[in-house]
Amino acid sequence: MKDIQDTWAKKAKQEGYRSRASYKLIQINETHKFIEQADLIVELGSAPGGWSQVIKRKKKAQTKCLAIDLLEMEGVDEIDFYKMDLYSDEFTKLLKTLNKKTDLILSDMSVNLSGIKLVDDESNLDLNLFCLDLSKQILSSKGTLLIKTFSNTNLKKLKKAFSENFEKVIMEKPPASKTSSAEVYLLGLVPK
Ligand SMILES: C[S@@+](CC[C@H](N)C(=O)[O-])C[C@H]1O[C@@H](n2cnc3c(N)ncnc32)[C@H](O)[C@@H]1O
Repeated sequence: MKDIQDTWAKKAKQEGYRSRASYKLIQINETHKFIEQADLIVELGSAPGGWSQVIKRKKKAQTKCLAIDLLEMEGVDEIDFYKMDLYSDEFTKLLKTLNKKTDLILSDMSVNLSGIKLVDDESNLDLNLFCLDLSKQILSSKGTLLIKTFSNTNLKKLKKAFSENFEKVIMEKPPASKTSSAEVYLLGLVPK
């Protein structure tokens, strides 16, 4: 299994991607083509930039993409990067500068682990619910929300919240995501 995982890291190096995480987005987008269709994209938790590179390669030329992270990120052409906490006032102010609804919100975020599973699971749920709440404020009527989450006791609650807010909810575990990892991706299509 390790060999398969190493293959993604090797492929990333060969194809000029900053992280193997790029392939998770490529694989999820393969069926839905949400990047190609979007005119405005907000990417949350973008560093070191693997997903931003995928967005740059697949988006329409005129599509605007805002990428946000707590950490510094080396620039990616045509991606507007902002170093900030999405829980900050700065982020709220940034959202106010958007003059149209967002077609796609992507989040590959997870919290820094404290090592206490219960605490980490709750903090990740907060982060996921923040993204869902944000989608209610800024997503267009045919928009898409994709978030990273975890297969744990909170997943059922989160899926229910997604189902209450989206016409279609799909759970994805792309081949590039380690089988040993509890991470899964939730996709919400068409806000209710
Ligand atoms: C797994 S990494 C993202 C990897 C990225 N998708 C890629 O392909 O390079 C998750 C990122 O989420 C960011 N993050 C976590 N909490 C955040 C917050 N509250 N505000 C902004 N960024 C956050 C972390 O700093 C980290 O860089």
